Amino acid sequence: MGDTIIGIIGGSGVYEIDGLEDAEWQVVDTPWGPPSDALLTGRLGGMRVVFLPRHGRGHVHSPSDVPYRANIDALKRLGVTDLVSVSACGSFREEMAPGDFVLVDQFIDRTVARPKSFFASGCVAHVSLAHPTCDRLRGAVTRAAEAAGVTLHARGTYLAMEGPQFSTLAESEMYRGHWGADVIGMTNMPEARLAREAELCYAPIAMVTDYDCWHEAHGAVDVAEVIRVLTANASAAKALVKALPGALGARETPCPAGCDRALEHAIMTAPTM
Ligand code: ADE
Repeated sequence: MGDTIIGIIGGSGVYEIDGLEDAEWQVVDTPWGPPSDALLTGRLGGMRVVFLPRHGRGHVHSPSDVPYRANIDALKRLGVTDLVSVSACGSFREEMAPGDFVLVDQFIDRTVARPKSFFASGCVAHVSLAHPTCDRLRGAVTRAAEAAGVTLHARGTYLAMEGPQFSTLAESEMYRGHWGADVIGMTNMPEARLAREAELCYAPIAMVTDYDCWHEAHGAVDVAEVIRVLTANASAAKALVKALPGALGARETPCPAGCDRALEHAIMTAPTM
């Protein structure tokens, strides 16, 4: 097996990581244009790590404008095998309270204005998204959260919305009721789709910042409050990331779920002679 290289996509409030040795910002270009920012490479706990701030340092890309394809392509080019993303989210469950972390395992995608595939024209491929996250990597995130003393809910369904406005009350009620979503955010799609097409193991961590607008005691999302919770939680997110290399360890077998072989039977287009 080749090396394990951990990729970290940092969302709102997470624009750098702590304790990186040999840290260096690298500018990477891709056929999909430039990624959100330069990528920070280095070593953490003896393992190679690549970090990318999803919104760019200074938070310049809105959720609809994040160059998702360039970001995943750039991480892949730098050799990333295991990708963990950290993002802010609203909660649809009383027990998933602001300040908590949720290890997302499923998605409902309601985004409408973003390119969602590397396979557009000329080469057609259909990967499976039945299980869009990687159980092996999720296990490592769970162990890292324990080591870092971070409270983590073991699973959750993430509703990805287009934004940038927050949901209406009718939408919020529908998502948490009939649709069974647990959390809501604006950035994990198409990131998860593209990670699968790039054959990366992917595990998204959602940091709860608010109760969206369904909760009687919390009428509407307040951005100042979102920023306050994010700032208070940034150090917990960084502690979790720091514990991740030890929890994941070197990759000794192919991914049991096949994330690293997702394209093996997915390409429909006949090879050209
Ligand atoms: N990010 C943080 N809170 C959110 C919410 N309530 N809806 C969508 N994205 C969010």
